[in-house]
Amino acid sequence: MDVDPGIDDSLALLLAGLSPEIELLAITVVSGNIEVDQAARNAKFSMRMIGRDDVMIAKGCARPIHRNYVDATDTHGIDGIGEMYFPKEEPEDHGSAIEVITRLLRLYPHQITIAALGPLSNLATILKQDPEVLSLAKEIIIMGGSVNVCGNCSPVAEYNFWCDPHAAKIFFDANVHNVTLVPLDVTYKILLTPNMREMIRQFKTPLSEYVTNITGFYVDFHWAQERTLGCVINDPLVIAYILDRSILNCKFGQVQVETEGIAMGESVVDFRQSDVRLTSAIAQSVDAKRFFKLFLTRLFSEHKSDIDLMIEKRMII
Ligand code: BDR
Ligand code: CA
Repeated sequence: MDVDPGIDDSLALLLAGLSPEIELLAITVVSGNIEVDQAARNAKFSMRMIGRDDVMIAKGCARPIHRNYVDATDTHGIDGIGEMYFPKEEPEDHGSAIEVITRLLRLYPHQITIAALGPLSNLATILKQDPEVLSLAKEIIIMGGSVNVCGNCSPVAEYNFWCDPHAAKIFFDANVHNVTLVPLDVTYKILLTPNMREMIRQFKTPLSEYVTNITGFYVDFHWAQERTLGCVINDPLVIAYILDRSILNCKFGQVQVETEGIAMGESVVDFRQSDVRLTSAIAQSVDAKRFFKLFLTRLFSEHKSDIDLMIEKRMII
């Protein structure tokens, strides 16, 4: 997982770390929502919450490829994780994210799925060093872009692409195989509602407290920004899709990314493109109910019967 935790990245780490089908080889970190050092601490803390701090964490790019770095602390809080100011624990040094991803892909050719949940600076840096190595991935699934809906940083740009548009362009211009894009078009539908959050709070376990606490800042941001009740949790959708392919419906298209001017970070998708070598799968629709059932029961498996009951009573979905 290549991440910038980030409240929703943290939730994605929990979902992956608690899913036995996923062998989590490494967490690589990039500056995005918060600068890379704090993002790495947030990744470490997230994994510690679920007793998975065995997973290697490696730091990558501190800055976008060309543009000045702009964090998303307005959305995720000054510590990147909802202003909870958890103890600062540094992950062990495993070398750079670039080295770690490159080494693992060579070690396990065509076996590794990369879930890229932050700006694409690490993956673009790898491509610049060696244009072939990412082709050794089994697949790469990216949360980013907005195709037919407004962006969240500008009318046309989503944060991960807007933060490092040059990286996104380098990545999609390289025509890497087996790429899936999970844009805002579908992640907007992944709204953790006040009722779901209240149910989680009622579970009263350390993990439920953690999830309730880190999402508080996010909920306030959504209210202030767009008068939404609850919070959109983009990143775990990628992990849920890895676990259950029926959660997303995808269509092939060619992705291009604008790097300059008013449309900086815009993802332009040509669905007319017929040359399959140039295309990525773009998520078009999502089964949000299926997502939440999976997400909630994986994080709070000991409360499965409560979750089922709340679903049956139509209290949460
Ligand atoms: C994306 O940007 C970040 O704020 C989130 O973590 C997510 O990856 C949504 O635009
Ligand atoms: Ca993210």
